[in-house]
Amino acid sequence: MAKPTVVTTRAALLDALGAVRAQGRTVGFVPTMGALHRGHISLVERAVAENGCAVVSVFVNPTQFNNPNDLKTYPRTPEADLDLLDETGVELVFMPSVEEMYPQPDTRQFDFGPTGQVMEGERRPGHFNGVAQVVSRLFDLVHPNRAYFGQKDFQQVAIIRMLVDMLGYNIEIVECPIVRESDGLALSSRNALLTPKARRAAPAIHHAMALAQLQMAQRTVQQTAQWVVEQINAVAPLQVEYFTLANAQTLQPIGAWSDAERVVGCIAVQAEQVRLIDNIIFK
Ligand code: PAJ
Repeated sequence: MAKPTVVTTRAALLDALGAVRAQGRTVGFVPTMGALHRGHISLVERAVAENGCAVVSVFVNPTQFNNPNDLKTYPRTPEADLDLLDETGVELVFMPSVEEMYPQPDTRQFDFGPTGQVMEGERRPGHFNGVAQVVSRLFDLVHPNRAYFGQKDFQQVAIIRMLVDMLGYNIEIVECPIVRESDGLALSSRNALLTPKARRAAPAIHHAMALAQLQMAQRTVQQTAQWVVEQINAVAPLQVEYFTLANAQTLQPIGAWSDAERVVGCIAVQAEQVRLIDNIIFK
């Protein structure tokens, strides 16, 4: 399999993409922040399978970090990332510097309304604005036919769909299932930062949500929410920050199972210094 071409400048990326377009090939794009794992690779493989050319970006976007320490400790493993990408059939890897992505500060403010004000939007002020800034810049450079996002970041996918609507992009957003470890823990770049104790505890997050989903007919929405939080908080050092049962379209909290056609349970858990998020479709 041909190894990907690595480009670090916008000019080199545009050059390479010009050649792809001239050949009439479609472009599938996977934006990432690196520290790649099988979850990312599942998106990349799908982009390779469904397009004439697949492009991956690896860029730890400072504007979406509301916590400076999180930005500082975010794992950066560019060499291992390239080794993983070598085997996938991806054609172009874009690894820009911060100056290359933001030659001028990006002062744009996006308003995603109520969808951006709950859960991650509420707990991480400015986070989705930063995601929208970087993803729109990347979309403007890559002009993909399709862009691939993981359901792992459920609210992010909803925000990206709104962004595409707002800015009028002709891009198909492809949502990909969550890839998990065999013990249920959702793969995440931040898992590498877990202490052994926190790593042993972390599967309780998915276990509690999966069991609550199986037993949802036996409990009200409020009882389910309480039960999940109790189950997880009983496993040291896990501390639930929020668990919300929400309308899967609008992300607004529901009061009864019948309030929405599709219901998602979204959770954020603090495991010592590491903040983990996960979700599960209830119905
Ligand atoms: P990052 O956390 O690196 O994730 C890149 C993509 O991989 C996202 O769409 C995310 O949902 C997906 N992903 C992560 N873990 C996954 C898993 N276990 N299973 C399936 N997909 C998974 O999300 C971001 O980066 C950034 O916000 C970004 C969109 C790149 C903008 O900076």
